[in-house]
Amino acid sequence: MKKFNTAFLILACMACSQNVTQPDNANTSASTTATVTPTATSATADPEMDRFISELIAKMTVEEKIGQLNLAAVGFDVTGPIVSENVDEKIQKGLIGGVFNTFTPLAARKLQEMAVTKTRLGIPLLFGYDVIHGHRTIFPIPLGLAASWDLNAIETSARIAAEEASADGLNWVFSPMVDIARDPRWGRVAEGAGEDTWYGAQVAKAMVKGYQGDDLAKFNTVMACVKHFALYGAAEAGRDYNTVDMSMHRMYQEYLPPYKAAVDAGAGTVMTSFNEINGIPATGNKWLMTDLLRKQWGFNGFVVTDYTAINEMVAHGVGDEAKAGELSLKAGTDMDMVGEVFLNNLNKSVQEGRVTMEELDTAVRRILEAKYKLGLFEDPYRYTDESRATSTIMKKEFVDASRDIARKTMVLLKNQNNILPLKQAGSIALVGPLVNSQRDMIGNWSGAGDWKQAVSVEQGIRNVVGNKVKINYAKGANIADDQQMISRLNAHGGELDIDKRSAEAMIQEAVKVARNSDVVVAVVGESQGMSGEAASRSDITLPGQQLELLKALKKTGKPMVVVLMSGRPLALSWEDKNADAILQTWFSGTQGGNAIADVLFGLYNPSGKITMTFPEVVGQVPIYYNHKSTGRPFNGELLDKYKSRYMDVTNEPLYPFGYGLSYTTFSYSKPQLSKTTIRANEALEVKVDVRNTGNYDGEEVVQLYVQDVVGSVTRPVKELKNFQKIFLKKGESKTVTFRITPEDLMFYNYELEQVLEPGAFKVFVGTNSAQVQEADFTVQGE
Ligand code: NOJ
Repeated sequence: MKKFNTAFLILACMACSQNVTQPDNANTSASTTATVTPTATSATADPEMDRFISELIAKMTVEEKIGQLNLAAVGFDVTGPIVSENVDEKIQKGLIGGVFNTFTPLAARKLQEMAVTKTRLGIPLLFGYDVIHGHRTIFPIPLGLAASWDLNAIETSARIAAEEASADGLNWVFSPMVDIARDPRWGRVAEGAGEDTWYGAQVAKAMVKGYQGDDLAKFNTVMACVKHFALYGAAEAGRDYNTVDMSMHRMYQEYLPPYKAAVDAGAGTVMTSFNEINGIPATGNKWLMTDLLRKQWGFNGFVVTDYTAINEMVAHGVGDEAKAGELSLKAGTDMDMVGEVFLNNLNKSVQEGRVTMEELDTAVRRILEAKYKLGLFEDPYRYTDESRATSTIMKKEFVDASRDIARKTMVLLKNQNNILPLKQAGSIALVGPLVNSQRDMIGNWSGAGDWKQAVSVEQGIRNVVGNKVKINYAKGANIADDQQMISRLNAHGGELDIDKRSAEAMIQEAVKVARNSDVVVAVVGESQGMSGEAASRSDITLPGQQLELLKALKKTGKPMVVVLMSGRPLALSWEDKNADAILQTWFSGTQGGNAIADVLFGLYNPSGKITMTFPEVVGQVPIYYNHKSTGRPFNGELLDKYKSRYMDVTNEPLYPFGYGLSYTTFSYSKPQLSKTTIRANEALEVKVDVRNTGNYDGEEVVQLYVQDVVGSVTRPVKELKNFQKIFLKKGESKTVTFRITPEDLMFYNYELEQVLEPGAFKVFVGTNSAQVQEADFTVQGE
């Protein structure tokens, strides 16, 4: 084992910027209550703001202060189990600090006027909304955006969302969701960037930058809300809202960095998660919200709960609502989303001394600061200009960008005999329940997007190839057969049109259509409502009779292209063996159909790569590339019994992290290192020649992974540390140069200090996490 060497302990790191504190039960321990947050009287670099807010707080009654901590859900969308009542009345009494789900300049202005003109102090409201992958112009779902490996494109999608949202009455978006997720049964994998920590952190930064721009005070930027802090993606069994239990080490090393990256990028707010952390619900967890988030990471915005999360602490078993409210406020949670626990209980808690005025003022100050930074005290109506809404929302430039970005997110999973791109001639059997679905195209959490403006696959194909290709359509199967499932989906805007014919009749019609066509394009997958919040699935194969449909189509002997729509990695074992081509298109947004057609007909050469491992079967889950080695790693010897393996399936995924094909091919040279031995404070250069060896110009995501071979704590078999997306004309080659910095080689040791331990390392470069070439180097000790 490498010797731990304190000389290589780098102090400017996440855990070490202040001493790492292990969680204590600070919420219940009298001895630690003195360590709450920066003071309630001024702490920022803006004395003008501090003075303004101090003067305002001095004028506020306790009720008015508590009102600022209250966030109400009202308006055009319902995103949780209950909605707020008597909102107008409460606003006018100064009992609400912000609302969400209300947008349009008109509707927002109406509520803002109430707050500004009808309350004693005229404090403006915040207007929030779940702008997740676009506001009106909808982009692909976040898991799709991540698959583009194009951070500029991801940032652009957030920038456009901010332009539209800020023109539509909003100043606060509940995004980015940066929860690392390794279990595709969890429906919310659709909302994040996938399984990788380093990549998740890059995406987090890009999104925050896109939303907030370089100045929150500009009229066209909105405040970001990083969520769900913390560890929400690790819900046991992939069941939404379920318990999370994780070692501190895994937390620091694998799950926390994307939140930290968003905070470092300046995210104005943080949303708590529904789960517990080390036995204390996140919303009431003082270690998490104060010691880690504020003291160690230096976060100076405000913390909002997730939807009724304080109330839900009662079901977690922490006590009654009053107690849950006290725990939450003292923990460092500032704003109560919908639950009104603060509104109903905090006054008494203050009067009876269980919550101090200073603690209350601290939370109020943070919320007022956000309003100040957004420029709301200067002009409360700055986001409610109707003419800006008209000239901004869904303007051509934005819609064009959504098509361009959507093309980049598609992942070619298989392309036998180069069946794709399709020829712009002949006939296509266009089959499947998703061929004409506009609703599904924009995904589950599509903000204020109008699905009726989405381009379906069929429309997209017609737009791209016109009459050059004859389309023979058959629905082939319903998206689901389970009536309960259909009712549930339709109860939440599923818009599912269920064909009453028997499954057999629908399949037979599709087979007939296939026989009369040159090629089959089957557009299958999930309905949008099968992923997203509260949409976990235990079986992640194609729902309903869709696999039966594909099997019947296969028997026709016609070449079969599967166009998949889904919000999660599906288990596609049969499809992988039997389809000629598979194109993963996620839910690709307003321009989805056009973008899919662009890829199918070769107007765009696919360049996306998956950021979540696709299992072969659900029983392998959780399956992720950056796992640890067991003491008995499987060595491929089938008869070698005592190894870490299954009896009925391999350990290998169907498609590994970082995987995705192109219409062209790329070859890689062996990685060349600038040195094979470096000092711990030195960087290393890695060069690799990549050549386009196929027949199309194309883009390749060149990926760099490292492994710390021996560590004082066990290290993963490899970890992504960098990538470059390059464009190569056919026949062209390029030398790609990476720099591995000391920071790339660091990890959290047992004491949760971020260290670089000298010794042997490996670097891997390749086209995905499994197909790599490696080189060795050593970091010298002193
Ligand atoms: C609950 C979800 O977990 C969260 O992501 C969302 O922002 C809120 N509801 C508000 O709709």
